[in-house]
Amino acid sequence: MFCRVAEQAKLLILCCILSSAHGKNPLWFQNISTNLFKSPGDILLGGLFPINRLTSNLTERMEPDDIQCESVDQNGLALAIVMKYTIDEINATPNLLPNVTLGFENYDDCGQSGIIMKPTLRFFTTAVSDDVDVMCNYTEYMTRVHAVIGPYSSEMAGVISQLVSFFLMPQVSYGASSDGFSDKLTYPSFMRTVPSDSWQAMAIVELLQVFGWNWVAVIGSDETYGKQGQQQVSQNAANGGICVAYEGLIPVYEDPVPIISEILDGIVEAKVGVVVVFASSQASAAFFKEVIRRNMTGVWLASTGWAVHSSIVTLPGIETIGTVLGFTAMTQPISLLTPYVQELFTKMAQQRLQMQITQPDPDVSPLENPCPGCWNLSPANVSIVETELVRRSAFSVYTAVYSVAQALHNMLNCSATGCARDPKAENIYPWQLLPWVQKVSLTLNGTQINFDSAGNPNIGYDLLAWVFQNNSVTFQNIGTFVQNLTIDKILIKWHTKNNMVPTSTCSSDCLSGQVRIVKGFYSCCFDCSDCLGGTYQNRTDDIQCTKCPLRQWSTFRSTSCVFPTYEYLAWSSFESVALILAGLLLLSCQAAMGILFFQHRGTPLLKALGGPLCGLGLLSLMGSCISLVLYLGQPNDVICRIQILLYIMFPTVALSTLLAISMQIVYVCEFPEKAPENMENLQGLGSWSLVLACCGVQSGLVGWFLIEGPSLTMWVDSLEVDFVKRFLPCPVEPILNFGLMVGFNGLLALICFMCTFMAPKPVRQYNFARDITIASLIYCVIWVIFIPIYAGLGDKEQTIAKVVFNLISNTALTVSYYLPKCHLLVKEPDLNKNEYFASILEGIPPIPPEDPPQDKNKPDNKNDNKEGDKNEDKEETKEDSKEENEEDNN
Ligand SMILES: *[C@@H]1O[C@H](CO)[C@@H](O)[C@H](O)[C@H]1NC(C)=O
Ligand SMILES: *[C@@H]1O[C@H](CO)[C@@H](O)[C@H](O)[C@H]1NC(C)=O
Ligand SMILES: *[C@@H]1O[C@H](CO)[C@@H](O)[C@H](O)[C@H]1NC(C)=O
Ligand SMILES: *[C@@H]1O[C@H](CO)[C@@H](O)[C@H](O)[C@H]1NC(C)=O
Ligand SMILES: *[C@@H]1O[C@H](CO)[C@@H](O)[C@H](O)[C@H]1NC(C)=O
Ligand SMILES: *[C@@H]1O[C@H](CO)[C@@H](O)[C@H](O)[C@H]1NC(C)=O
Ligand SMILES: *[C@@H]1O[C@H](CO)[C@@H](O)[C@H](O)[C@H]1NC(C)=O
Ligand SMILES: *[C@@H]1O[C@H](CO)[C@@H](O)[C@H](O)[C@H]1NC(C)=O
Ligand SMILES: *[C@@H]1O[C@H](CO)[C@@H](O)[C@H](O)[C@H]1NC(C)=O
Repeated sequence: MFCRVAEQAKLLILCCILSSAHGKNPLWFQNISTNLFKSPGDILLGGLFPINRLTSNLTERMEPDDIQCESVDQNGLALAIVMKYTIDEINATPNLLPNVTLGFENYDDCGQSGIIMKPTLRFFTTAVSDDVDVMCNYTEYMTRVHAVIGPYSSEMAGVISQLVSFFLMPQVSYGASSDGFSDKLTYPSFMRTVPSDSWQAMAIVELLQVFGWNWVAVIGSDETYGKQGQQQVSQNAANGGICVAYEGLIPVYEDPVPIISEILDGIVEAKVGVVVVFASSQASAAFFKEVIRRNMTGVWLASTGWAVHSSIVTLPGIETIGTVLGFTAMTQPISLLTPYVQELFTKMAQQRLQMQITQPDPDVSPLENPCPGCWNLSPANVSIVETELVRRSAFSVYTAVYSVAQALHNMLNCSATGCARDPKAENIYPWQLLPWVQKVSLTLNGTQINFDSAGNPNIGYDLLAWVFQNNSVTFQNIGTFVQNLTIDKILIKWHTKNNMVPTSTCSSDCLSGQVRIVKGFYSCCFDCSDCLGGTYQNRTDDIQCTKCPLRQWSTFRSTSCVFPTYEYLAWSSFESVALILAGLLLLSCQAAMGILFFQHRGTPLLKALGGPLCGLGLLSLMGSCISLVLYLGQPNDVICRIQILLYIMFPTVALSTLLAISMQIVYVCEFPEKAPENMENLQGLGSWSLVLACCGVQSGLVGWFLIEGPSLTMWVDSLEVDFVKRFLPCPVEPILNFGLMVGFNGLLALICFMCTFMAPKPVRQYNFARDITIASLIYCVIWVIFIPIYAGLGDKEQTIAKVVFNLISNTALTVSYYLPKCHLLVKEPDLNKNEYFASILEGIPPIPPEDPPQDKNKPDNKNDNKEGDKNEDKEETKEDSKEENEEDNN
């Protein structure tokens, strides 16, 4: 009694609350019926929902009806109520199907093929009787329902869809996402309002790629949904360069725990950090129970089957498993659903009170009442439509029903006030409705919905991250997938140290410029190998270094090849500056000497040196010095040729002037009788002709070299490119010709040396022979040293060596030949007299001819002394002995 009163009071309060809230709710809420699963109408839709769970043992099934489903599945029930809501809303919408009432019959499928057959057969009974007719021709067979909404799972859809397709009856599933149903030859009348799993597989693989996870496990549940999804993810992963290290299927019809143990062992052994679980909620729940028991953590990627399913979310200890990212179909909330259900349950409670029901009806058949456990629903049960799963999947049911209603609207040619065709008056067959549903396009709450030729909707996915808070799980949207994945990585909280993104790879990435040497079966497990010079790594996952194209080269560990670049002695480089300074120093010395000589032009010494000939020699040394600048800066064809020309010719000129003097000395020594009269000629015409001849020969050699040798451009073109950078010298090819030219200069020096080193020391005269001997000897020695050094050097050093040796030999000539003359001009101007240079100037032999040749030094000294006594100066004697000492030292 007391209870009854309390119940009534509660209801009264509720009614008050509701009537106060009435203003917000539409008027049609007042007329909703309390029958949850049936409503009459001109056109009936059949709904299939997993309203109950299996409670009997299938192995003990002996009779067809021996299956019990007696525990309420709140999600399935909630979705069935969403269908009722949608139909009520459609009927209350005046301009959708005016004057046509949409009815429905919803049944429980229990997720069992043994259960779902009965309601399906029921759908195919004729409208007038409860019989399924066996006919030859079903074209004009009027079935009870015009369309089927559901079922929820792919497994159940697989059981009935081919049967439904036999009648070509429109079937719109709100949950069966397996890709197999896209096959329109097998399932011609199947459509759905959730995206096909082939998209989901793509989305999952894109997600793996975004975080660089290429060593993963993919687990499925062992039924249509999980198997196909698992297969597709593995396949897409392989195509996307991701290695599936472990695959497993969680059984659903037998005790899963032993197999799950095996799977978890496999995951641990494969050392993956990321596991894709493409499974039904039931299988996932069993799986994660075991994961939690084993204290495993990692990154778990959830498929739509369980991403927001409460049976996993509410597992105790779920917050310890690590990071969960999941996909759900992109849907919208239905704002009126909760008030509607509130109203509905209130009415039901009221009715129960009136009819004084306190017990569920025990013997009612499931076809009459699919939910025996629903007899005591009250407003307190509203929470069943407020779970995350229902909030996210209600829209799919809503859309499924609406698309059929809209198709009817189009088919019956309805306007706002009425329809052209009346289903009450004429027979509308399901197969007639099918094409209208297939091409329907409708807008729900601003979202445009239509179906492609495979019956799949234009709906994408939301990507969610699980957020663990105070022992409960909330879901945070972190991205979407509509053809492409967009993701806001910052929003994800990784359950790792420092919130680092976890890794899941077999081998860590190779450095750039390395290629992968795959170890074993998986392409993701590899060693790295460096790309050598001349090869490069083209793509990151290359397993072989690619050879560089022709005329390109690469350095060690390159990712590309380049055309080689060339270096040269830059003006500002350290070496250049040093060379320039040295050259300038030498040049200024030579210039000073030149000026000194010029001031003393016409004096005996200068005459003896050949006058202009001496100037020419000095000038050519200066020219040689200046010409070295051609080695600096970028060379080109012309510069290279001038370079070699000047490099060879200037020393030739200088040496040939020395040679001219040497010849005179030899002549004077060898032909003392004839010398005096021929000296004039010898010095003038003879010397000049000799110089010209030498230059002529050398020019010939240079010309030959230039004709034989390649130009710089040709030489560069003919280089085999196996460098990315090298010094660009002027080509010294053919080396033989170059040797000839340098050799000719050496020969000139050698001749000078041969001519002069045996020459007797002149008595109280200037010893020209000594200067030339020393100069030419040094010159020869320098170039003999040059050859081995030059041969052993690199391009750049060769060029520098050429310049340096030229400078050294130039300096040697200047110092050993010209400097003594300058010394004489400056320090001992008294000696600058004709007699002191008589041997050259007048052809007077330096030594009296009667001297015996064997004992040279003694008589020389004697003579020296005698003559010194005879002639005037003491100073001269000193000078001579000084010179002698110098010579000895040398
Ligand atoms: C509710 O039903 C009554 C009687 O069937 C009808 O008169 C009334 O118009 C209906 N109200 C709405 C809002 O449909
Ligand atoms: C079902 O029945 C079989 C045999 O009767 C038994 O072995 C099995 O454990 C039962 N399964 C469940 C889930 O009760
Ligand atoms: C089936 O019946 C329809 C209409 O009654 C008729 O048009 C069609 O030809 C029949 N098909 C067969 C195969 O008999
Ligand atoms: C998991 O961790 C708990 C506490 O940290 C520990 O008691 C338990 O033995 C662990 N279980 C396994 C399978 O390691
Ligand atoms: C329409 O969508 C918005 C959000 O997109 C939602 O808040 C609203 O409740 C929806 N309205 C209906 C009638 O479903
Ligand atoms: C409705 O709520 C009552 C009490 O909270 C509960 O006992 C009952 O199982 C619920 N019914 C359904 C179908 O969830
Ligand atoms: C609605 O149907 C009734 C009979 O079923 C008919 O009398 C009435 O004219 C129809 N109204 C419209 C707007 O078609
Ligand atoms: C998706 O990405 C691919 C390649 O990244 C691109 O070609 C395509 O245009 C993108 N599509 C959309 C809708 O953004
Ligand atoms: C290098 O990779 C590109 C694509 O990344 C490809 O088109 C090209 O053919 C590759 N080159 C070689 C030489 O393999």
